[in-house]
Amino acid sequence: MDQNRTPLLEAITDFIETKPAYFRIPGHRMAKGISKRWTDKVGTDIFAYDVTETPATDDLHSPEGAISEAQELLRELYGADKSFFLVNGSTCGNEAMIMSAALEGEKIMIARNAHKSAMMGLIISGAEPVYVMPGVIGQWGIQGGITAKEVRKCFAENPDCKALFLVSPSYYGVCSELEEISKVCHAYGALLLVDEAHGGHVYFHAGLPQGALEAGADMCVQSMHKVTGALTQSSVLHLKYHGINQEAYDRAAQNLHLVQSTSPNYLLMTSLDCARYELALHGTDMMSKALRLAEQTRNQINAISGFQCMASDEIGRAGVHELDGTRLVISAKELGLTGFELDALLFEKYAVNVELSDYQNVLAIVTYANDEADMDRLADACRSISETYVRRKTDSGRALLPEFPMLPQQVMTPRKAYFSKTKMIRWEDAVDKISGQMIAPYPPGIPAIYPGERISRQVWEYVERFRKDGRHMHGTDKDGKLEKIKIIDEL
Ligand SMILES: Cc1ncc(COP(=O)(O)O)c(C=O)c1O
Repeated sequence: MDQNRTPLLEAITDFIETKPAYFRIPGHRMAKGISKRWTDKVGTDIFAYDVTETPATDDLHSPEGAISEAQELLRELYGADKSFFLVNGSTCGNEAMIMSAALEGEKIMIARNAHKSAMMGLIISGAEPVYVMPGVIGQWGIQGGITAKEVRKCFAENPDCKALFLVSPSYYGVCSELEEISKVCHAYGALLLVDEAHGGHVYFHAGLPQGALEAGADMCVQSMHKVTGALTQSSVLHLKYHGINQEAYDRAAQNLHLVQSTSPNYLLMTSLDCARYELALHGTDMMSKALRLAEQTRNQINAISGFQCMASDEIGRAGVHELDGTRLVISAKELGLTGFELDALLFEKYAVNVELSDYQNVLAIVTYANDEADMDRLADACRSISETYVRRKTDSGRALLPEFPMLPQQVMTPRKAYFSKTKMIRWEDAVDKISGQMIAPYPPGIPAIYPGERISRQVWEYVERFRKDGRHMHGTDKDGKLEKIKIIDEL
């Protein structure tokens, strides 16, 4: 196929050039109706591409023209059997994968470090989750990968699981041993579903981890907006047939209708078309640049007193099979700084913005679109902090992430809990109650409690540590402070 083409961009451009008298949605009429306050800042050209389904611009929900061609090019580039544009982020892709693979009452194995969108998929599908725990990279206080050994053990106990859903790479760039894991899944007639939200770029350079599709995954989603140049919310779903559960593959396309808007945004879809084009033509150069920038900064940071940047020596521990070298996990714990404090210093004093922070680290995501100047600012800021920050006696208890709790007892499925009668109680009284909601301390936004789980003392204490420290809680009452919690009304 001709990867030099951008069918959707071309179709919309041709359409605009006909200078249509436009009586469709959106009502701004190709920029004329957009607030001048905004167009004065950003210009008008881009808004002309904010169109809708027309005979010339195709229909995402029933593609036959430009969108179909653009998806075909994407499919070919990634070596999938079928690929879909997503306009509601990887969130909707994860929901669709789970709904497709496991029906109500069927079992599905879920890595416990899954993003909360997996839980949303469970609520919609009604499937029964069985959890598999990732390792913990002790020195960095972050979750590691899932091993084939753990997966095999979990399938031996639950051979009726229809699929395994896991995240690889994780936010921190940790990849699990997908190739071995896919063999285990397929031996049990189960699908491997990979949340590759952070991995759309790994296919384009030998120095990056193996992609999920290359490793035998049956379905995977990628947030093309995270690192590959598409606009925020633009993601993709790929399917690869391995002769397992044909019905699930067929359901995937149908399920996308349920979780996506009926008015998909053409700017987002065009951004996917163009991101694919750039990757196809220049992917290796783009990724070489990102890897080079990240590697040189990692070395510089590791030479700064009191700073450390995670490196490949973690591979082989805690289920870490590979690491994405474009992610910089940076710690200044030797200076007595938590990741939260380092994040605040970088932002407030040096205008250096990192993606996230935790009790110990900050995470900087490096892409091909960064430049030497960005990297220098990051390294210089770390140097300056090291020189000026008065070294505190490390209070290791303070700097470490609370230990991940044991799995709580699952009393009912997330779906059953979500649609059960609930009541609000004070958080202090929540031990031993069945949660009616998820609680995901943010970051990293991974649920510590799923709806339907009994809140053990250990889980309560884990969450309480985040709450006391004023961390934001996803899934809680309006201000994210967790003063109250929704529990199942057992009467
Ligand atoms: C691991 C993981 N999966 C899925 C998502 C959701 O992706 P999106 O923002 O594209 O909906 C995120 C978002 O950060 C994520 O980190």
